[in-house]
Amino acid sequence: MRLITNLVLGVSTAVALVGCKAGGDNQGLEYAPNMYHSVAYEPLSQITDPDAGWYFEALDDRSGEFYNSNPYNPYKMNLRMPPKHTVRRNEKGWLPYRGTNDADGLANADKLVSPIMDTTGVALQQGQVLYETYCKHCHGAKAGGDGKVAQGVKIDGVDHSMYPGVANLRGDAYKNITEGHIFHVITYGKGLMGAHGSQVSEEDRWKIAKYVKQLQKN
Ligand code: HEC
Repeated sequence: MRLITNLVLGVSTAVALVGCKAGGDNQGLEYAPNMYHSVAYEPLSQITDPDAGWYFEALDDRSGEFYNSNPYNPYKMNLRMPPKHTVRRNEKGWLPYRGTNDADGLANADKLVSPIMDTTGVALQQGQVLYETYCKHCHGAKAGGDGKVAQGVKIDGVDHSMYPGVANLRGDAYKNITEGHIFHVITYGKGLMGAHGSQVSEEDRWKIAKYVKQLQKN
Protein backbone atom coordinates (compact mmCIF):
# COMPACT_ATOMS: atom_id res chain seq x y z
CA MET A 1 0.00 0.00 0.00
CA ARG A 2 2.81 2.34 0.96
CA LEU A 3 4.53 1.54 -2.35
CA ILE A 4 1.43 2.53 -4.29
CA THR A 5 1.07 5.76 -2.32
CA ASN A 6 4.69 6.64 -3.00
CA LEU A 7 4.32 5.81 -6.66
CA VAL A 8 1.21 7.95 -7.02
CA LEU A 9 2.88 10.82 -5.15
CA GLY A 10 6.06 10.54 -7.24
CA VAL A 11 4.27 10.42 -10.57
CA SER A 12 1.97 13.32 -9.75
CA THR A 13 4.94 15.45 -8.58
CA ALA A 14 6.77 14.65 -11.80
CA VAL A 15 3.72 15.58 -13.87
CA ALA A 16 3.31 18.81 -11.92
CA LEU A 17 6.98 19.73 -12.42
CA VAL A 18 6.86 19.03 -16.15
CA GLY A 19 4.30 21.84 -16.36
CA CYS A 20 6.90 24.32 -15.04
CA LYS A 21 8.95 25.59 -17.89
CA ALA A 22 10.51 28.88 -18.71
CA GLY A 23 12.43 30.26 -21.63
CA GLY A 24 12.42 33.13 -24.03
CA ASP A 25 9.78 35.61 -22.98
CA ASN A 26 8.07 33.06 -20.75
CA GLN A 27 9.41 33.36 -17.24
CA GLY A 28 7.46 30.26 -16.17
CA LEU A 29 5.28 29.93 -13.16
CA GLU A 30 6.58 32.02 -10.31
CA TYR A 31 6.18 31.64 -6.61
CA ALA A 32 5.38 34.95 -4.93
CA PRO A 33 5.88 36.98 -8.12
CA ASN A 34 5.66 40.30 -6.26
CA MET A 35 9.14 39.56 -5.02
CA TYR A 36 10.54 39.55 -8.55
CA HIS A 37 8.58 42.27 -10.27
CA SER A 38 8.96 45.74 -8.96
CA VAL A 39 5.85 47.83 -8.82
CA ALA A 40 8.06 50.89 -8.66
CA TYR A 41 9.36 52.44 -11.88
CA GLU A 42 12.71 50.79 -12.38
CA PRO A 43 14.73 51.87 -15.40
CA LEU A 44 16.70 48.66 -15.66
CA SER A 45 13.82 46.25 -15.18
CA GLN A 46 11.11 48.09 -17.00
CA ILE A 47 8.20 45.96 -18.15
CA THR A 48 6.52 47.42 -21.22
CA ASP A 49 3.91 44.75 -21.87
CA PRO A 50 0.65 46.12 -20.42
CA ASP A 51 -0.67 42.58 -20.06
CA ALA A 52 2.27 41.27 -18.04
CA GLY A 53 0.87 39.72 -14.88
CA TRP A 54 -2.77 40.03 -15.99
CA TYR A 55 -3.59 36.83 -14.09
CA PHE A 56 -2.61 38.44 -10.86
CA GLU A 57 -4.60 41.36 -9.62
CA ALA A 58 -4.93 44.02 -12.31
CA LEU A 59 -3.79 47.52 -11.41
CA ASP A 60 -6.21 50.44 -11.31
CA ASP A 61 -5.29 51.36 -14.87
CA ARG A 62 -6.49 47.93 -16.01
CA SER A 63 -3.03 46.80 -17.02
CA GLY A 64 -1.40 43.69 -15.62
CA GLU A 65 0.14 43.67 -12.17
CA PHE A 66 3.73 43.72 -13.40
CA TYR A 67 3.41 46.48 -15.99
CA ASN A 68 5.56 49.33 -14.71
CA SER A 69 6.18 51.82 -17.49
CA ASN A 70 5.94 55.51 -16.83
CA PRO A 71 3.16 57.04 -18.95
CA TYR A 72 4.46 60.58 -18.35
CA ASN A 73 7.86 60.12 -19.97
CA PRO A 74 8.59 60.08 -23.70
CA TYR A 75 8.16 56.53 -25.09
CA LYS A 76 6.87 55.59 -21.62
CA MET A 77 10.48 55.16 -20.55
CA ASN A 78 11.23 54.84 -16.86
CA LEU A 79 14.69 56.30 -17.32
CA ARG A 80 14.66 60.08 -17.60
CA MET A 81 16.86 61.75 -20.14
CA PRO A 82 19.53 63.87 -18.47
CA PRO A 83 18.87 67.61 -18.87
CA LYS A 84 20.39 69.13 -22.00
CA HIS A 85 23.94 70.50 -21.79
CA THR A 86 24.72 68.67 -18.56
CA VAL A 87 27.95 66.71 -18.24
CA ARG A 88 28.24 63.53 -16.26
CA ARG A 89 30.92 63.50 -13.58
CA ASN A 90 32.30 60.37 -12.02
CA GLU A 91 31.89 59.55 -8.35
CA LYS A 92 34.96 61.65 -7.54
CA GLY A 93 33.46 64.67 -9.26
CA TRP A 94 35.85 64.53 -12.20
CA LEU A 95 34.69 65.82 -15.55
CA PRO A 96 35.36 63.58 -18.56
CA TYR A 97 38.76 63.97 -20.20
CA ARG A 98 38.48 66.58 -22.91
CA GLY A 99 41.91 66.35 -24.52
CA THR A 100 41.47 65.99 -28.26
CA ASN A 101 42.63 63.01 -30.27
CA ASP A 102 45.28 64.82 -32.31
CA ALA A 103 48.84 66.16 -32.09
CA ASP A 104 47.73 69.24 -30.12
CA GLY A 105 45.84 67.05 -27.65
CA LEU A 106 48.91 64.89 -27.13
CA ALA A 107 51.17 67.90 -26.66
CA ASN A 108 48.78 69.36 -24.09
CA ALA A 109 48.50 66.03 -22.32
CA ASP A 110 52.26 66.11 -21.65
CA LYS A 111 51.61 68.91 -19.19
CA LEU A 112 48.76 67.28 -17.29
CA VAL A 113 49.30 66.53 -13.63
CA SER A 114 48.02 63.20 -12.38
CA PRO A 115 45.03 63.63 -10.06
CA ILE A 116 46.02 60.48 -8.17
CA MET A 117 47.60 61.35 -4.84
CA ASP A 118 49.23 58.11 -3.89
CA THR A 119 50.54 58.55 -0.39
CA THR A 120 49.98 54.94 0.62
CA GLY A 121 51.18 53.14 -2.50
CA VAL A 122 47.79 51.47 -2.95
CA ALA A 123 47.13 53.22 -6.27
CA LEU A 124 50.46 51.95 -7.56
CA GLN A 125 49.55 48.38 -6.62
CA GLN A 126 46.21 48.77 -8.36
CA GLY A 127 48.07 50.24 -11.32
CA GLN A 128 50.14 47.08 -11.50
CA VAL A 129 47.07 44.83 -11.56
CA LEU A 130 45.53 47.00 -14.27
CA TYR A 131 48.74 47.11 -16.29
CA GLU A 132 49.01 43.35 -16.13
CA THR A 133 45.42 43.08 -17.32
CA TYR A 134 45.48 45.56 -20.18
CA CYS A 135 49.06 46.15 -21.27
CA LYS A 136 51.41 43.37 -20.26
CA HIS A 137 50.53 40.96 -23.08
CA CYS A 138 51.87 43.52 -25.56
CA HIS A 139 54.34 45.67 -23.63
CA GLY A 140 55.73 42.93 -21.38
CA ALA A 141 55.92 42.59 -17.60
CA LYS A 142 58.69 45.22 -17.35
CA ALA A 143 57.46 47.36 -20.24
CA GLY A 144 60.32 46.18 -22.44
CA GLY A 145 58.05 45.76 -25.47
CA ASP A 146 58.39 41.99 -25.21
CA GLY A 147 54.91 40.75 -24.25
CA LYS A 148 53.60 37.50 -25.70
CA VAL A 149 51.56 39.29 -28.35
CA ALA A 150 54.54 41.36 -29.43
CA GLN A 151 56.85 38.34 -29.63
CA GLY A 152 54.36 36.27 -31.52
CA VAL A 153 55.20 32.77 -32.65
CA LYS A 154 57.28 31.48 -35.51
CA ILE A 155 55.71 28.60 -37.42
CA ASP A 156 57.75 27.11 -40.26
CA GLY A 157 59.90 30.18 -40.25
CA VAL A 158 56.91 32.49 -40.74
CA ASP A 159 56.50 35.15 -38.08
CA HIS A 160 52.97 35.22 -36.72
CA SER A 161 53.55 38.16 -34.51
CA MET A 162 50.21 39.91 -34.29
CA TYR A 163 51.64 43.23 -33.24
CA PRO A 164 54.97 44.14 -34.69
CA GLY A 165 56.48 47.38 -33.44
CA VAL A 166 55.23 47.36 -29.84
CA ALA A 167 57.04 50.20 -28.14
CA ASN A 168 59.78 49.35 -25.67
CA LEU A 169 58.79 51.82 -22.98
CA ARG A 170 62.13 51.36 -21.24
CA GLY A 171 63.97 52.66 -24.28
CA ASP A 172 65.51 56.14 -24.44
CA ALA A 173 62.76 57.42 -26.73
CA TYR A 174 60.14 56.95 -24.03
CA LYS A 175 62.13 57.53 -20.86
CA ASN A 176 60.90 61.05 -20.36
CA ILE A 177 57.24 60.71 -21.34
CA THR A 178 54.95 62.08 -18.66
CA GLU A 179 52.07 60.40 -16.89
CA GLY A 180 49.76 62.72 -18.83
CA HIS A 181 51.25 61.49 -22.10
CA ILE A 182 50.72 57.86 -21.11
CA PHE A 183 47.17 58.65 -19.97
CA HIS A 184 46.43 60.23 -23.34
CA VAL A 185 47.92 57.29 -25.29
CA ILE A 186 45.86 54.79 -23.27
CA THR A 187 42.73 56.88 -23.88
CA TYR A 188 43.03 57.28 -27.65
CA GLY A 189 45.74 54.83 -28.70
CA LYS A 190 48.56 55.95 -30.96
CA GLY A 191 49.77 54.68 -34.32
CA LEU A 192 49.59 50.90 -34.19
CA MET A 193 48.20 50.82 -30.67
CA GLY A 194 44.44 50.79 -30.23
CA ALA A 195 42.45 53.04 -27.90
CA HIS A 196 41.60 51.75 -24.45
CA GLY A 197 39.48 54.70 -23.30
CA SER A 198 36.21 52.81 -23.52
CA GLN A 199 37.48 49.80 -21.56
CA VAL A 200 39.49 51.44 -18.81
CA SER A 201 38.05 54.17 -16.61
CA GLU A 202 39.72 57.55 -16.31
CA GLU A 203 40.89 56.85 -12.78
CA ASP A 204 42.32 53.47 -13.74
CA ARG A 205 44.15 54.99 -16.71
CA TRP A 206 45.93 57.39 -14.36
CA LYS A 207 46.86 54.51 -12.08
CA ILE A 208 48.32 52.58 -15.01
CA ALA A 209 50.31 55.65 -16.08
CA LYS A 210 51.77 55.89 -12.60
CA TYR A 211 52.77 52.25 -12.68
CA VAL A 212 54.39 52.58 -16.13
CA LYS A 213 56.57 55.44 -14.82
CA GLN A 214 57.58 53.21 -11.92
CA LEU A 215 58.43 50.34 -14.29
CA GLN A 216 60.62 52.64 -16.34
CA LYS A 217 62.66 53.52 -13.27
CA ASN A 218 63.42 49.95 -12.26
C1 HEC B 1 47.73 45.14 -28.76
C2 HEC B 1 49.01 45.52 -28.25
C3 HEC B 1 49.08 46.68 -27.30
C4 HEC B 1 48.43 46.84 -26.10
C5 HEC B 1 47.41 45.94 -25.46
C6 HEC B 1 48.91 48.07 -25.54
N1 HEC B 1 49.81 48.66 -26.37
FE1 HEC B 1 50.84 50.37 -26.03
N2 HEC B 1 51.69 50.26 -27.86
C7 HEC B 1 51.49 49.23 -28.76
C8 HEC B 1 52.19 49.53 -30.01
C9 HEC B 1 52.23 48.65 -31.25
C10 HEC B 1 52.81 50.80 -29.81
C11 HEC B 1 53.64 51.58 -30.82
C12 HEC B 1 52.66 52.56 -31.47
C13 HEC B 1 53.25 53.29 -32.66
O1 HEC B 1 54.20 54.04 -32.45
O2 HEC B 1 52.74 53.08 -33.76
C14 HEC B 1 52.47 51.20 -28.46
C15 HEC B 1 52.91 52.38 -27.89
C16 HEC B 1 52.69 52.75 -26.58
C17 HEC B 1 53.23 53.94 -25.93
C18 HEC B 1 54.16 54.98 -26.56
C19 HEC B 1 53.33 56.01 -27.28
C20 HEC B 1 54.18 57.10 -27.93
O3 HEC B 1 54.25 58.16 -27.37
O4 HEC B 1 54.71 56.83 -29.01
C21 HEC B 1 52.76 53.93 -24.64
C22 HEC B 1 53.08 54.98 -23.57
C23 HEC B 1 51.95 52.77 -24.49
N3 HEC B 1 51.90 52.07 -25.66
C24 HEC B 1 51.31 52.42 -23.30
C25 HEC B 1 50.41 51.37 -23.20
C26 HEC B 1 49.66 51.07 -22.00
C27 HEC B 1 49.81 51.82 -20.69
C28 HEC B 1 48.86 50.02 -22.29
C29 HEC B 1 47.83 49.36 -21.40
C30 HEC B 1 46.71 50.16 -21.09
C31 HEC B 1 49.12 49.62 -23.66
N4 HEC B 1 50.05 50.47 -24.18
C32 HEC B 1 48.51 48.55 -24.29
C33 HEC B 1 50.75 48.08 -28.55
C34 HEC B 1 49.95 47.84 -27.46
